[in-house]
Amino acid sequence: MQNFIFDCKTRLIFGKGTEKTVGENMKRLGNKVLFHHYGEGYIKECGLYDVIMDSLKEAGLEVIELTGVKPNPEVGLVRKGVEICKKEGIDCILAVGGGSVMDSAKAIGLGALYDGDVWDFFEHKTPITQMLPLGVISTIPATGSEASDTSVMTNDDGQIKRHIADIILRPSFAILNPELTYTLPPYQTAVGGVDIFSHVVERYFTQEPDVDYTDRLCEATMKTVIENLPKVMENGKNYAARAEIMLAAPWAQNGLLGTGRIEDWGSHMMGHEISGIYNTAHGATLSIIIPQWMTYVYKENVDRFAQYAVRVWDADPALEKEELALYGIEKTKEFFRSVHVPVTLKEAGIDGSRLEEMAEKCCKNGPVGGFKQLYKEDVLAIYRACLE
Ligand code: NZQ
Ligand code: ZN
Repeated sequence: MQNFIFDCKTRLIFGKGTEKTVGENMKRLGNKVLFHHYGEGYIKECGLYDVIMDSLKEAGLEVIELTGVKPNPEVGLVRKGVEICKKEGIDCILAVGGGSVMDSAKAIGLGALYDGDVWDFFEHKTPITQMLPLGVISTIPATGSEASDTSVMTNDDGQIKRHIADIILRPSFAILNPELTYTLPPYQTAVGGVDIFSHVVERYFTQEPDVDYTDRLCEATMKTVIENLPKVMENGKNYAARAEIMLAAPWAQNGLLGTGRIEDWGSHMMGHEISGIYNTAHGATLSIIIPQWMTYVYKENVDRFAQYAVRVWDADPALEKEELALYGIEKTKEFFRSVHVPVTLKEAGIDGSRLEEMAEKCCKNGPVGGFKQLYKEDVLAIYRACLE
């Protein structure tokens, strides 16, 4: 096990009705709030918007809104948010929505305290040193951005999607009410669940020995998603199952499961290139990539894949290691299929015309992945295997 520091500053406020406490929680962060959300749609229809506004006003906070966030958020709206923050003297941000809203809010919080262009952070041209305090209400259990140190942003200029990570990016608090996810359409629920599962996969598959404690936490988290995702797909108002998924999201991505080990992240990097060009939902890029990535790399550590099959998929430990490894990969793919997400590029409506370009961009800064380092040729081979 490697040395590590784990510091998750985000306070999780979990359960029914907790969104009503947003005013008092924001009051601890500042006085003038940028309220960032998708805009029209479910936030207004389900009454959440009014609850939030009432709570913020009751706490005596001044509120300015910024709406219009789209999935795979684009840096243009972030720039607009930065301008508003500077002009209006905003001193804290509230993000209400999923990863796209929360990640945009993180970037706005960085840009508001920086003199240059906010995209500089995503080009790693400037270090991350400060961000406006951020509170979030998560409405999709998926990315784990509600407690993560990460922001992922798309720049339409070049069709690139890049991520940054630093402890400074963690929100101060995250309000998680599973009831707020009842309105999620089945597809959004499914790709969210796949994303949670993938965050664990990216950490579980390591070459680091002697990480049994975190292996067990990873396995518990994967099993929780496997058991509960089909239940919420069947009945979107199953509170118990929604709650399990909502709790799994931040714990899969707040860094705990990766402590003491080298993580992978190659699949995410390959997925970002797909979203950057085709605007595919993030979780859907992972349901396509993960099984093919597994098939490509399992021989690097068959024992680990065999352990995955036995402990996560209840395979018979008496089987040959290789057979177990392949069984675990097949079960993963079956699971994704069972929740109706694409497992090939073709199913996502993507042809093979830009694979070379995607592989090139993916490895622009060198090989990706920690379990097995993947060079452009490897990435291209995986993309090709994903075609159909
Ligand atoms: O626009 P509307 O119609 O309002 O629909 C929204 C949104 O467009 C809808 N939605 C959200 N909550 C809802 C709801 N619909 C009904 N009921 C609700 N309760 O969902 C649509 C998708 O939202 P989005 O925020 O894009 O989804 P997600 O949370 O999956 O975020 C994806 C983004 O996060 C990044 C991804 O790459 C992608 O850009 N990630 C962020 C990470 C992080 N910060 O740690 C890590 C992840 O690996 C990921 O890369
Ligand atoms: Zn993800």
